[in-house]
Amino acid sequence: MQTVATVMTPEVSSVDRDFPLLKAIAIMAKRAISCVVVREGPRPIGILTERDLVRKLFAAGGDPAMFRVGDVMTTPPQTVTEETTTLEALQLLRTRAFRRLPVVDPSGALVGIVTQTDLLHAVIADLEEASRLKSEILSTVSHELRTPIALIAGYVDLLSEGTFEPLQPRQQEVVARVQRTSSQLVDLVNAAFELIQLEAGRVSVACNPIDVEALFEQLGREFRALVPEGVSLHWRNELGTQPILGDHAKLKASLKNVVDNALKFTTAGRVEVMAAWADGLLTFVVQDTGIGIPAADLSHIFELFRQVDASDTRRFAGVGLGLHVVKRLLDVLGGRIAVDSTLGVGSTFRITIPAPRVMGGPPTRP
Ligand SMILES: Nc1ncnc2c1ncn2[C@@H]1O[C@H](COP(=O)(O)OP(=O)(O)O)[C@@H](O)[C@H]1O
Ligand SMILES: [Mg+2]
Repeated sequence: MQTVATVMTPEVSSVDRDFPLLKAIAIMAKRAISCVVVREGPRPIGILTERDLVRKLFAAGGDPAMFRVGDVMTTPPQTVTEETTTLEALQLLRTRAFRRLPVVDPSGALVGIVTQTDLLHAVIADLEEASRLKSEILSTVSHELRTPIALIAGYVDLLSEGTFEPLQPRQQEVVARVQRTSSQLVDLVNAAFELIQLEAGRVSVACNPIDVEALFEQLGREFRALVPEGVSLHWRNELGTQPILGDHAKLKASLKNVVDNALKFTTAGRVEVMAAWADGLLTFVVQDTGIGIPAADLSHIFELFRQVDASDTRRFAGVGLGLHVVKRLLDVLGGRIAVDSTLGVGSTFRITIPAPRVMGGPPTRP
């Protein structure tokens, strides 16, 4: 946190209260300064600014030659010392119409002046530094979390596959639970990491050819174990195999989050993921026959940490990061996400992203 010492102006013209006003104006004009400090002995008792001059002279009327500096000066709220922090000084100025504060030494003698603008700049610089530091710490922590979590997930996979020795049914159950929990943890850390990068503006957009057919196959494999009993998951690609251009990682992450929700909030029926392309726009539609979303919540589910059911007893895992990250990723890509839902019937999420085709004619159907 900076102090007043770093932003004050030590050279300051000062006069006493009996000084003729016209002479003070002449000093200001000659030195091209916009204020003088009014002193009583070494101690500041007021400030005379250009603004005050015009306003007060008009209000008072009469001949300016008759006035003394003390008649029109402004009495500042307080003085500050060089050790006062810029934030404290700014707070002294905040509530009233003052733009400047005299700076005094411990004995109360005038040593300079500090302006609101300079204080503001210093405080903004401090805040930016603090915010940069905070995201640096968050970023490092979440990055460092990824490695051990991946390691845990890897070993649990080995255990569950019976690599060391076949597991008893009870052991299998426990290992499956650890597997689910660690996969949630991986998702959470990834979403947090993504969000921190987005907040820090540290995200660039890649442009690679994307083969939606291959993407669907890949996601199909990743989701296979997560499809609940009584639910079927379908992939329908209407683009064929001709690649389109886009940011593969962000697209995949966005789609994954939405499909993950669809599977999580659907206990019976089906989840269908559809891809289509028209006029430079790639569309993904994820439709489920799940619990649905109340109309009043539809506009809030994309907000950070927003969940329809946020109670301690809620049935579904998660913290409400997913859709917010998706929305932010799509903002970066110039895309959009929209939702339609009927409570108890199901939800349809629609993602659209500008995505030029790689070359030549439109994508062919398979
Ligand atoms: N397919 C869906 N069906 C029903 N509710 C959904 C669906 N997708 C999202 N939601 C609602 O939106 C909320 C926010 O989703 P998300 O940001 O992914 O958070 P999380 O999955 O961690 O709860 C969910 O908690 C849920 O209430
Ligand atoms: Mg989610």
